[in-house]
Amino acid sequence: MAHYPIDPSVTPLVKGFFDEATNTITYVVRDPGSDSCAIVDSVMDIDYAAGRITYDNADAVIAYVQDNGLKLEWLLETHVHADHLSAAPYIQEKLGGKIGIGEKITVVQDTFGKVFNEGTEFQRDGSQFDALFTDGDTYKIGGMTGFTMHTPGHTPACMVHVIGDAAFVGDTLFMPDGGSARADFPGGDAGELYDSIQKVLALPDETRLFMCHDYGPNGRDIQWETTVAEEKAHNIHVGGSKSKDEFVKFRTERDAQLAMPKLIIPSLQVNMRAGEIPEDKDGRPMLKVPINGL
Ligand SMILES: [Fe+2]
Repeated sequence: MAHYPIDPSVTPLVKGFFDEATNTITYVVRDPGSDSCAIVDSVMDIDYAAGRITYDNADAVIAYVQDNGLKLEWLLETHVHADHLSAAPYIQEKLGGKIGIGEKITVVQDTFGKVFNEGTEFQRDGSQFDALFTDGDTYKIGGMTGFTMHTPGHTPACMVHVIGDAAFVGDTLFMPDGGSARADFPGGDAGELYDSIQKVLALPDETRLFMCHDYGPNGRDIQWETTVAEEKAHNIHVGGSKSKDEFVKFRTERDAQLAMPKLIIPSLQVNMRAGEIPEDKDGRPMLKVPINGL
């Protein structure tokens, strides 16, 4: 961990917004020493059956930023989500800020560019984003310095963002009673996910961990914040003394039972374009459904 610029003395203010339709949590991360903030993993609403896009979630986050007089520096995506659509371009239009994702987005774009039979107008170079991060890259939110940890396994482009004593884990870990994310999407790998989770668990014990999702297992109320110490002790998939072999066997067997996320088809097409909705040859917003393509 020596090469990561960990500084637990910095304690950002974190506000979570829960989306009931997709069980996603969007975060506004504020610098306590200035008016600067970042937004992690925003959500654009879709009624897929009707092909209707709305912005109630994003508008609530925008209102929070405006009401608190905050300056948006970054729109961070922990990865190309398969279960919800990003609202980053919509928010950027209203509030500014730069959209950033892991540089391995190019691998994801290559994979799903083929699945969706995209033409050459779909660039596979990550140029739809304002910033592409590599492992250990740093960025500023006012006086705070955030850094990235490349955490592949769920997808090749996954990044955990660490800002002071807070880490936004994306789809590496869930709450201790939720375990870990699936690793069976194209480009996913259960062994890599285990190694990535170990990187997160090597952060200081007191580090606050903020989940991208929570499903309230066993009927408990929705929660999205825990600590490294709690995950190390109690995570049902990786806590205690579970070995990599045990994890890979369990994860692989579990993933084989899981259905595709309801919104994977629209999510991938939009999110691999940094949240922009694709257009047909006449410039109309349009999504595709590849038959038996996933
Ligand atoms: Fe995900």
